[in-house]
Amino acid sequence: MSTTSDLVIGGRAPLRGRLRLPGCKGISHRALVFAAIAEGDSHLRGLAPGADVGSTLGALDALGVVVHETGDSTTVEGRGFDGFAEPARVLDCGNSATTMRLLSGLLAGRPFLSVLTGDASLVERPMARIAQPLRAMGARIDGRNDGERAPLVIRGGALTGRHTRLSVASGQVKTALVLAGFQASGITEITEPGPSRDHTERMLGATGAPIERTDDHTVRVRAGAPDPFDVEVPGDPSSAAFLVVAALITPGSDLVLEDVLLNPGRIAFVEVLQRMGATIDVDEHDVRLGEPVGDLRIRAGSLVGTVVDCHEAIIDEVPALAIAAAFADGVTEFRGAAEMRVKETDRIATLEQELSKLGVGVEGSADGLTVRGGAPQAATLDSHGDHRIALAMAVAAHAIDHESTITGWDAAAVSYPSFAGDLERLTR
Ligand code: S3P
Repeated sequence: MSTTSDLVIGGRAPLRGRLRLPGCKGISHRALVFAAIAEGDSHLRGLAPGADVGSTLGALDALGVVVHETGDSTTVEGRGFDGFAEPARVLDCGNSATTMRLLSGLLAGRPFLSVLTGDASLVERPMARIAQPLRAMGARIDGRNDGERAPLVIRGGALTGRHTRLSVASGQVKTALVLAGFQASGITEITEPGPSRDHTERMLGATGAPIERTDDHTVRVRAGAPDPFDVEVPGDPSSAAFLVVAALITPGSDLVLEDVLLNPGRIAFVEVLQRMGATIDVDEHDVRLGEPVGDLRIRAGSLVGTVVDCHEAIIDEVPALAIAAAFADGVTEFRGAAEMRVKETDRIATLEQELSKLGVGVEGSADGLTVRGGAPQAATLDSHGDHRIALAMAVAAHAIDHESTITGWDAAAVSYPSFAGDLERLTR
């Protein structure tokens, strides 16, 4: 295995032993932002090491937030919302939509000008979903195509709470509106058309912030902020999904992933895999900031195709699940996956392209993907600059006898920079 910008990988060595994954990206972004709006020091251990969380750290630094990093410990000197200063430079969110969307909600209530931009992928992603509701609360937000695309220019100010009905379920948009709601007068309510990631409600609820769920799809917020907090960030379940699938499809594997975030939405992929015949044991043993944490044990075995309803909470795991489908007996249908088209790449298109190169029967539609399982063959694959496509292709290639090459492998560093090294350790 080599790890330059090309990854050469294959050989089907079983994954055995135990691994503590890097910290969860979604929790890490939120922990940094929530610690910054609290008043006092928060202590965070094991933040996600990838480039995305680096983008949030860089933007907070530009906004005058003081953060000290020592080894895997991070102290954030929270000074409340008034501790943020007008940034002298453009906030570069890199590849991270979470950074851009969360910070937009925060900056919508700050009485100064901010400009947010990102890489070639991020500036093509939809932003009207945050610009419109934040404008309705009183913020001035502009961007290309009337605020649909970054760069975004935000002149924040006095906000008024209101009830917003989101047109798409989105953990990022919900969190942006919660951050705006903390700075608004009156009550802010957000209703989503379906379930989305609920880390924000859990984490803020556990840190004393004025947030509550009024029904399954509605969150209510009043002016306020969380108290400072300490947390050890659990392992990332989205990164886990790649090793889980690698272990399932590589004969002889028996793997334990320790201290993984077991938020029910985030590990919904485990149920899909169990339905496909996978042997995965879930052992929950801790609760941290309102989030369940525990171990996953995965043993290799044969899989069968299934139908997967891709609600928002599972959408990031479709690339990993598509690899399980490619190695399963029969057909797997992913439905209701239109949001895949507006991720770091159009993941329906990029999965279709790359799975075809492996000789897998695959067909995309406007909002779905059909994968005919079989015996994938080694190929030269491309990440398309998308971390989850890079990781998915590495998992597929690992489970094939002959070596494949993945070009643009450096994209994996956005969420899981140590993947190749971790896999090597588990297969030694
Ligand atoms: C995220 C929510 C999801 C997910 C993304 C992270 C979050 O995006 O795909 O990787 O941390 O809230 P959307 O909010 O756009 O659905």
